[in-house]
Amino acid sequence: MSDLWVKKSIEQLRAESADAEHSLRRALGPVALISLGIGAIVGAGIFVISGIAVQHTGPALVVSVILSGIGCAFAGLCYSEFASMIPIAGSAYTYAYATIGEFLAWIIGWDLILEYAVGATTVSIGWSGYTLSFLRTLHIPFPAELARSPWDPARNIDGTMIHSYFNLPAFFIVAVITALLILGIRESARFNNVVVIVKVGVLLLFIGVCALFITRANWHPFLPANTGTFGDFGWSGVLRGAGLIFFAYIGFDAVSTAAQEARNPERDMPIGILGSLGISTVLYIGVVMVLTGVTPFTRLNVPDPLAVAVDSTSAHWLSPIVKAGAILGTTAVILVMLLGQTRIFYTMAFDGLLPRVFGTVHPRFRTPYKSTALVGFLVALAGGLIPLRVVGELVSIGTLLAFVIVCGSVLAMRKMRPDIRRPFRAPAVWFVAPMGMIVCLAQMVGLPLDTWVRLFVWMGIGFCIYFGYSRHHSLLRAKIGRSSATSVTKTKD
Ligand code: ALA
Repeated sequence: MSDLWVKKSIEQLRAESADAEHSLRRALGPVALISLGIGAIVGAGIFVISGIAVQHTGPALVVSVILSGIGCAFAGLCYSEFASMIPIAGSAYTYAYATIGEFLAWIIGWDLILEYAVGATTVSIGWSGYTLSFLRTLHIPFPAELARSPWDPARNIDGTMIHSYFNLPAFFIVAVITALLILGIRESARFNNVVVIVKVGVLLLFIGVCALFITRANWHPFLPANTGTFGDFGWSGVLRGAGLIFFAYIGFDAVSTAAQEARNPERDMPIGILGSLGISTVLYIGVVMVLTGVTPFTRLNVPDPLAVAVDSTSAHWLSPIVKAGAILGTTAVILVMLLGQTRIFYTMAFDGLLPRVFGTVHPRFRTPYKSTALVGFLVALAGGLIPLRVVGELVSIGTLLAFVIVCGSVLAMRKMRPDIRRPFRAPAVWFVAPMGMIVCLAQMVGLPLDTWVRLFVWMGIGFCIYFGYSRHHSLLRAKIGRSSATSVTKTKD
């Protein structure tokens, strides 16, 4: 069983990174990386899930936003140290392979599917909600039967039930982005830059305009008393709110998955991660203050809470702009999430833990096209069939778990390999890393029990695949097996 903990050395990882130079294209500089981060961060979390989270916190949602942001900053510093030390695609998966060994690396790689692929699914459903709302603004009809998951029934205004068979807009957007990703990283990054400018502009406009319509009474009581149920207002509500709004921060770590496509990863990884996180946090604080200031929070439990807030002011002209910003913004998130997922699979296939098909690079586009097509199809299908609430919390809990493991691994690495050059060192690491673990664990505790059950089931499936397939195909274990066989033969000679 001890071979479950076989580790890759940092030197080996760096050598593999150099080999891979010839496969993926190094096209991304620091601005493109910050943009990639914001592209992944600002999306369905602030545009959609803020409306759900505020039902647990009331106006104190801003406290949840800050708490969650602090946890992410701690984790972001740890990610930065790792990403600059091991600048290759694969993110937390790669870091774990170097520190705690193959089995836990597999667990993280499997867990990251929740963050990236299931995250893309969640955001595609948010995209669909805002797109349909936008179409209504333009008086363009869309068949209700193709607007939602079959397990997510809705009501007409007259109270009758609408039955839907498939969420076609969610499926459609993932299919389009998948095609874009197959065509190439440079093209995808260019598209992302444009979208990021638009969505940051829209949020600034939202804050600037709606701030003029704040009614202070909406902020009272700031922290409604707990109802007696854990997670419904009061401080436990703030914790649940943090667990929910955490979704809005997911994505800064996606920058690290592009390490192999960065021009100067050692310098630019930390800039990309911390820069994108800082900008998003400031924006979120502004957005949630305004959101709860212009509208009583009970009215925000809708698929398009920011649009509802705008509609409660007299600046109606802003409503279609906010919807368009949300649509474009979530489009970029889906792009970065799918990009991250295929790059993690690429690295896992390179290690033999997943079938080779996930590592096949297109000769002309230089993208992992087969894996992108497969992941894109499955994510599109899931977006068409699964309701938002089921996937959203699962993404948060899975990502929080990955963050806890990354923070722990940074400490382990400082102890085990203090000699390795770290172009970026997390400051006060013996405070930052444990605090990152504590804040992320607290947010996990805030999430409901059924989300924990889903996490355990997902991990159980991962165990079966590891012991049924990956363990027997691991190239590292095969290599170690060969070299020990050679040394046995030599000893006999
Ligand atoms: N942070 C990303 C979003 O909010 C996942 O859509």
